[in-house]
Amino acid sequence: MKLRSVRGTHDIFGKEIKKFNRISNIVSKNAYLKDFKEIQTPIFEFSDLFKKPLGELSDVVLKEMYSFKDRNNEFLTLRPEYTTPMIRAAITNNLLNDLPLKIFGIGPMFRRERPQKGRFRQFNQINFEILGTKDFLADVELILLSNKILKELLPKSVIRLQINSLGDKKNLIDFKKNLTKYFNNHKKKLSEESITKIDTNPLRILDSKNEADIELSKSSPKIYEYLTNEAKKHYEDLKRALNMLEINFEENPNLVRGLDYYCNTVFEYKSDNLGSQDTLLGGGRYDGLIKVLGGPDLPGIGWAAGIERLALLMDAENETSSSVHIAVTDEKFNNHFLNLQKYLLENKISYYWNYKYNLKKSFTKANTSQASYIIIIGENELNGNFFTIKNLINGEQKELKLNQIFNHLNDKSR
Ligand code: HAM
Repeated sequence: MKLRSVRGTHDIFGKEIKKFNRISNIVSKNAYLKDFKEIQTPIFEFSDLFKKPLGELSDVVLKEMYSFKDRNNEFLTLRPEYTTPMIRAAITNNLLNDLPLKIFGIGPMFRRERPQKGRFRQFNQINFEILGTKDFLADVELILLSNKILKELLPKSVIRLQINSLGDKKNLIDFKKNLTKYFNNHKKKLSEESITKIDTNPLRILDSKNEADIELSKSSPKIYEYLTNEAKKHYEDLKRALNMLEINFEENPNLVRGLDYYCNTVFEYKSDNLGSQDTLLGGGRYDGLIKVLGGPDLPGIGWAAGIERLALLMDAENETSSSVHIAVTDEKFNNHFLNLQKYLLENKISYYWNYKYNLKKSFTKANTSQASYIIIIGENELNGNFFTIKNLINGEQKELKLNQIFNHLNDKSR
């Protein structure tokens, strides 16, 4: 049998692992600044943990879970998302005694979806949750945090934040009934896939990508008209705060989420540079979920972002660090080179050297790797106690003392 990896999985190395580590560092730094505590849960859980909360009729539960029976005849599932395992861990470890509980986690999730650009069967998520408060300021805090992390990772990308409110569970039931009625009346115009959802999951028709479904959804009943006064106030308070904080957002009355546990605020960040899998980050409130999972009746809110999708956008921004290559023309100059290595490490400048003592080969490697600079060490450099630095983008060459290198690289590369 030909050796291959499983469809929809991918190995992470080279440039990719650098991006993953960078994402993880920025996430952890921001999490600790805002006092979120890290949590890691097992990759598999009992299957029942996911079925009801995610929705027995949701795509994830119906088609996408990797479930298996182990030797004790227990049904286990590779986690398709992080919110339910995190809540399970909070309940079983008695973390809900001190509220609100602010937790975050980073790790792999598993969904058997059709693989395509930005969509994998094993993918990685960043996940933030606040458990135990209904306050709209928790919604604001989480959106603000997502905004800050995305800006740090993707300073040049245009990313659109969309928000909506689904209201509480009761008005959601009324809304679903009317939506089912509306789509049944216009059944002929719907796509085949959406027809199967009319009675089971009509909300999902609202975020169908089929043109005919989109057209029909434009005149469908709108959730806002069903919201209770309390839900409306929560939503209006949130919008006012986002405006005050100058966070741009669009209201999308058809924004619903793929998992069943949401109510009140829902939000997503989308990018036009991701192809059809255009959602980078998604989340919302899930008041009632903790109780469904066997815990106390507490509210909660959170979001998750796909690391692979973040990495794709980082590529589009050409965000890999401007690299520095070294060319040493002969072993005789190793001491001069060691001084340079010490200096580069102390100043946190990453560099690449091919161990070849060959100017031509070092230049070829630097050019094929699209390095920005090459530092040359030879006879002249040793005798004059300087280093020759060539900018490979504009061809400019300079002879610099060791202590001038940092400023030069930073002036030119930023
Ligand atoms: P979700 O919208 O299912 O939400 O997933 C969140 C993000 O994970 C998506 O926006 C996307 O970037 C990434 N993602 C999802 N599926 C895949 C895939 N097959 N391949 C690559 N990336 C993917 C949740 O999972 C909720 N638990 C979020 C949440 C947290 N809600 C409240 N708290």
